[in-house]
Amino acid sequence: MKVLVIGSGAREHAIAWKISQSTQVDALFLAPGNAGTAALGTNLPIEATDIPALANAARRHSVDLTIVGPEGPLAAGIVDWFQEQGLAVFGPTRAAAQIEASKGFAKEFMNRHGIPCAQGMAFDSYREAERFLQRREMPVVIKADGLAAGKGVTVALTRAEAEAALDACMNQRVFGEAGARVVVEEFLEGREVSVFAFTDGEHMSPLAAACDYKRVGDGDQGPNTGGMGSYSPPEFWDNALATEAEARIFRPTIEGMAREGRPYRGVLYGGLILTRQGLKVIEFNARLGDPETQVILPRLEADLVEIAQAIAGGEMPKTRIVWSGEACVGVVMASGGYPGDYSTGFPISGLDDMGGGCIVFHSGTRLREGEVVTSGGRVLTVVGRASSLAQARDRAYSAVERIRFQGGFYRRDIALRPAAVGARYS
Ligand code: AMP
Ligand code: GLY
Repeated sequence: MKVLVIGSGAREHAIAWKISQSTQVDALFLAPGNAGTAALGTNLPIEATDIPALANAARRHSVDLTIVGPEGPLAAGIVDWFQEQGLAVFGPTRAAAQIEASKGFAKEFMNRHGIPCAQGMAFDSYREAERFLQRREMPVVIKADGLAAGKGVTVALTRAEAEAALDACMNQRVFGEAGARVVVEEFLEGREVSVFAFTDGEHMSPLAAACDYKRVGDGDQGPNTGGMGSYSPPEFWDNALATEAEARIFRPTIEGMAREGRPYRGVLYGGLILTRQGLKVIEFNARLGDPETQVILPRLEADLVEIAQAIAGGEMPKTRIVWSGEACVGVVMASGGYPGDYSTGFPISGLDDMGGGCIVFHSGTRLREGEVVTSGGRVLTVVGRASSLAQARDRAYSAVERIRFQGGFYRRDIALRPAAVGARYS
């Protein structure tokens, strides 16, 4: 089989790494990929959002299966486009991806189906949203409806902050059209956990859970980032929580989407919070998470190509999907200055002598005359694997200490304790 993976982050490198272990694959393409994926397959210089060019490339290279990493192309309808042209593709259709691409849709969907989530409503009108705000207790959470690269959420501690956030979003349109609609919801407290299932629109795989760290600094200090590390499985995630998540959240969501004529096929990602009243949904995503993928795919005891191919064809794979009990810890190495301004083009050393039980997934890297150099804010996710979380952590950090590039930095407390709650927001 020939497989195309769309995207360029460490998530996509992890997907490519897992796929390259499949005996069914004889050619792997990435669009656009990075220096890490170049070692596993052929990088094609096509942006992940250029859907017509991606479809042309899939045809030109006789690709049998395309796997979509990021949400942008899913929300833009890449799956519909590929399907119309008879190209097999793994991921939800545009209508199904609304569960991530429109927070208003997701909120109203969860309210319709009794799926536990933060109490709240979606508004198209600034005046109505403002009126609703008057009746809410603080803190309150204001979310831009559309995709806003993780920046569209404000936790407002005071009424003035809430009003400012609403005004910025709906009147000033600081997130563009993504802010034409907003969701206003209650503030929830508890531990956050990212939970993933493969689904064919009717059946689902066992769940995989992971925690990620959003703030740039140790102890959850400083600004938010795309994610500075992750680990799986979380020490607090047990069978009772998995059963609750499946019965109260994942199954009703998959059934509800099917009943509403938007069957959801692909990976369903629940961003959940463990409140005193049980698990509640903070958001759904229509794809695998980054950096969670880097710590869950090493635990997948099944052929990812077989899973993706079966689901692209509308059904679950014949063989069972199993997540191993192995612990994985992923530490992100970033460019000095990230998430603010940073410089790139620095050579990365120490990538060759990885010890056992370690994998390095690239994100912001590229090849310059055969040398791997930095090319982005988040540069690498270094993953340690072991039978215990403590050992996986040691392995990840010993590898991190061997890798060097000018200005590079990382958090030292990944998997030491769970990320602080609500940690993404200052
Ligand atoms: P979202 O973009 O919806 O995932 O929100 C991003 C982050 O905002 C989450 O990971 C939480 O840390 C925080 N957050 C979102 N909604 C709430 C809420 N209702 N209560 C508390 N924190 C929230
Ligand atoms: N880890 C957060 C995300 O992938 O959206």
